Amino acid sequence: MTGAAGFIGSHLAHALVRAGTTVIGVDRRDPATDRTAAANLAALQELPGYIHLTADLIHCAIEPLLVDAETVFHLAGIPGVRPSWGSRFGEYLASNVLATHRVMETCTRMGVPRVVVASSSSVYGPTNGGASIETDRPQPASPYAVTKLAEEQLCLAYADRAHCPTSVVALRYFTVYGPRQRSDMFTHRALQAALTGQPLGLYGDGHQRRDFTYIDDAVAATIAASTVPTAHVAINIGGGSSASLLEVVNVAKRLAGRDIQLHQEGPRNGDVLTTRANPHRAHELLGWQAQVDLHSGMHAHMQALAAELPEYSRAA
Ligand code: NAD
Ligand code: UGA
Repeated sequence: MTGAAGFIGSHLAHALVRAGTTVIGVDRRDPATDRTAAANLAALQELPGYIHLTADLIHCAIEPLLVDAETVFHLAGIPGVRPSWGSRFGEYLASNVLATHRVMETCTRMGVPRVVVASSSSVYGPTNGGASIETDRPQPASPYAVTKLAEEQLCLAYADRAHCPTSVVALRYFTVYGPRQRSDMFTHRALQAALTGQPLGLYGDGHQRRDFTYIDDAVAATIAASTVPTAHVAINIGGGSSASLLEVVNVAKRLAGRDIQLHQEGPRNGDVLTTRANPHRAHELLGWQAQVDLHSGMHAHMQALAAELPEYSRAA
């Protein structure tokens, strides 16, 4: 698994190891020096069946990691829509596209049967508010989204070659939330504001809608994608809860029993107004549908956040 020290990767690795699978996790963030990586990996590194390697996929040797691998879960990447404008684009390109190229070259050469790659709802770009279906024409609206589309299409192009031993499932995750969510993301920030009383920056009027997907649901879909007897396909992973940012704020307020001070700022370039998943393909191919509603998911998320901030745990 790549990106194992990250938010989604660490949850996925944990679930796989608990189910008896041996996982080799690779991530360039070193848990010895990076607090987020250390926190994400804390529960995992003690489990037999998990092996961690700190390495950068842009130049590390990938081949030795893939001997006898049944599945590669490729989650490593630079996420985040808004910071992808400007000078950091090279980093996005290197990790999301060039590193993916190295992963696919090695997987196909070594005959790894299945690659599950993390794509993104952002590949769809602006919509008319309706549900996005996998056959819609992608119109990525940010440099990040362009790299995610390139990443999934690169993986699918490799798998489409004649006699390719590797099949690919690209999962278009829709805004995933839950314990250990990245601190730049809205749900984390809204809950933190509710717990601490710090103000919350709102980019735009708060009527943006997301198809929020709880982390356990995203993990279940990802594991299902490793064995599904299909190849070369992109699948939407979303549909837990469609909500606006203002609705998320209200849930956070209710859960914490505290008001949130909103600081309205201008909308950010590349942000789309609405994401919404058409979930039919996920249901049909993976037998998957989201189980966790926003209120329950945010409750679990807040409890985990409060435990990280012991001085606020009373509010939870
Ligand atoms: P994250 O930042 O928590 O995890 C990504 C991990 O990848 C990090 O630990 C990072 O160090 C690692 N990484 C990046 N470049 C690397 C490289 N060159 N070599 C080795 N490791 C590298 O992000 P996340 O939220 O867990 O997202 C995981 C994946 O899912 C990303 O590809 C992201 O684009 C995608 N995704 C996330 C969401 C979401 O809502 N969180 C939604 C859609 C898609
Ligand atoms: C999220 C992830 O960060 C991406 O990695 C992922 O690819 C994407 O979901 C996806 O679904 O594909 P995003 O939807 O932008 O991206 O999620 P957030 O970062 O949580 O932002 C959601 C909304 O809240 C955006 O409109 C953003 O502008 C807004 N926001 C965010 C704020 O108003 N204030 C903040 O402090 C942070």
